[in-house]
Amino acid sequence: MKRFTNKVAVVTGGSTGIGRACAQEFAAEGAAVVIADVNEEQGEALALALVAEGGQALFQHTDVAQEESVARMAEAAGERFGGIDILVNSAAIQSYGSVVTTNEDTWDRTIDVNLKGIYLASRFCIPSMALRGGGSVVSIASVQGIMSQPDVAAYAATKGAIIAMTRTMALDHAGAGVRVNALSPGSIDTPMLRHSAELFFPDAVAETVESWGDLHPLGRVGQPREIARVVLFLSSDDASFMTGANVVVDGGLSIGLFSPSQD
Ligand SMILES: NC(=O)c1ccc[n+]([C@@H]2O[C@H](COP(=O)([O-])OP(=O)(O)OC[C@H]3O[C@@H](n4cnc5c(N)ncnc54)[C@H](O)[C@@H]3O)[C@@H](O)[C@H]2O)c1
Repeated sequence: MKRFTNKVAVVTGGSTGIGRACAQEFAAEGAAVVIADVNEEQGEALALALVAEGGQALFQHTDVAQEESVARMAEAAGERFGGIDILVNSAAIQSYGSVVTTNEDTWDRTIDVNLKGIYLASRFCIPSMALRGGGSVVSIASVQGIMSQPDVAAYAATKGAIIAMTRTMALDHAGAGVRVNALSPGSIDTPMLRHSAELFFPDAVAETVESWGDLHPLGRVGQPREIARVVLFLSSDDASFMTGANVVVDGGLSIGLFSPSQD
């Protein structure tokens, strides 16, 4: 028996980056995986690849900001795999700007995808977990929920809110056996991070990612799998007494005033 045999894991944002690594790791450990994402091309290809490797996977086109879309996704998970045990909220968008320079559409879309998306996915997945005797929700927040940088007003607001919402969700659903935790990564080498590097330094993406790595005491950015392994731990019985936590996985980024790797 693998660790997640007979478990059904929904991963929002599962087509790329951290979500993708979670989908791959869950499938490798026996879970049936629902990849819920707007990126159809990469999501479909991933689901096919996981099935070809002997796993169980379904891609379901899902916009986490749209109630009907999320409801359909949870329904599809139930129809195909019989219910839901695990939810990983990884879907998000990065936006830049202060409160003065962020326009209302960007503000609203950032809040809708990053925060309302977690509310909607949780709303439609937790009842199934409760019916099955319990489950786990892991929401990917960020170190930007506990420390800050300039010009990320909307994004940082969502990440701080996720950590607060995790606590209240943990209290609300503990009685049903549903554990709810947040995970706050430092810089992780994903399309989102590379897109940010490209935005500011289009001619030096690799160098920029490397220099961001230098800000972390471990001297590098993280890899998506290094987040996924902790997500799987939090979703497993090994974390059976953990709920309401914000687990920081950041190569030490948030612990010091300067990084030894910058010496
Ligand atoms: N990469 C980092 O350095 C870093 C650091 C801290 C936190 N995070 C967080 O980790 C999570 C994953 O980020 P990532 O770096 O893997 O980014 P990513 O851009 O590689 O992946 C995000 C995924 O979400 C999907 N998505 C976007 N909008 C969606 C929507 N409306 N509905 C459904 N899916 C949608 C995208 O298609 C994509 O597949 C995010 O919550 C992000 O904020 C990332």
